[in-house]
Amino acid sequence: MDDLYAPPSTDRTDPKRPLAAARALDPTRYVGAEALALDQREILSRGWQVVAPASALSEPGDHIVREIGGVPILLVRNGEGRLNGFLNICRHRAGPLALCDGEGAKRLRCAYHGWAYDLDGHLRTAPEMQAADGFDHRDIALERIETEVWNGLVFARTRLGPGFADIMAGIDDIVPTGALDGLNHHHSRIYDVACNWKVYVDNYLEGYHLPFVHPDLTQVVSYPDYKTELARFWSLQRSPVDAETEAYAAGEALYFFIYPNTMLNILPGRMQTNRVVANGPDACRVEFDFYYADGEAGRAEADDAFSDSVQDEDRMICEHVQKGLASGAYQPGRLSPDQEAGVWHWHNLLRDAYAACG
Ligand code: FES
Ligand SMILES: [Fe+2]
Repeated sequence: MDDLYAPPSTDRTDPKRPLAAARALDPTRYVGAEALALDQREILSRGWQVVAPASALSEPGDHIVREIGGVPILLVRNGEGRLNGFLNICRHRAGPLALCDGEGAKRLRCAYHGWAYDLDGHLRTAPEMQAADGFDHRDIALERIETEVWNGLVFARTRLGPGFADIMAGIDDIVPTGALDGLNHHHSRIYDVACNWKVYVDNYLEGYHLPFVHPDLTQVVSYPDYKTELARFWSLQRSPVDAETEAYAAGEALYFFIYPNTMLNILPGRMQTNRVVANGPDACRVEFDFYYADGEAGRAEADDAFSDSVQDEDRMICEHVQKGLASGAYQPGRLSPDQEAGVWHWHNLLRDAYAACG
């Protein structure tokens, strides 16, 4: 047994190498509360990520609540049509301003003791605070976060990091402004997977596993024709969809991964966006939003059923991989230069981020 057991890796320098010499990321990055806290603080909080369709925030008072890097956030359209982003954390004792998505709010009233903020985040009323020395509601406002809207999708982040234009540079050459205009948000789904959030991303970034994990999907997308393109902060897997099915029209499938946790899956007449949310050291929650062109929404039911079966297959393999990574018996393996360029690119972005924060 001793001969078979590989000692845990201690190589936390985890060097960048050329693709042909590359190894996977150090397994200690996928395990434990410390690794999760680092990812939440230094990677997920600083990363632009898709949080909602702009159509969910089109009218004054429309609002959504999400979480970025473990921090509750709230986005709201104000009376003048401006999109505001805030931490969903009351300035009194950290209560929530909203508990769920909603429409038409006139005020953001904290659910704990009723402090009420206007849609620009300024505190307007605070019950029973008259006796507090020097308390002036005009001094108090919600903490703002940044938002951006790109092709009908709202992105947000909570801490400074690479700029939105730098992250998205070059995508407009493939998906120009307006290219997604005909797609309407249809429905959302959540998938919970018992693996570190990065295992889910790793798995997304290669088609290498398709013949083994997704035999049915392999009938639809042409895995040998997968092509991977790499930009600074995003990668794209392109695949012809040979045959029309109930779920998909034929054409080209574009699978964008935008660092650190957004995926755009664009097929003819259809788009699905994913955001991978860390939900514990070995748990993630993946938010799916489905969009269809007029006349294509009839595919939604078949699309959901197909998506469920693919996700079940990915969940199964990702949960096994998490156990392998956490075993202490795995050392980073070699990558396939033909099939895992996207994984290599993403692991190098992570290595850069880890190196930058020491
Ligand atoms: S925590 Fe918001 S009013 Fe008390
Ligand atoms: Fe998969």
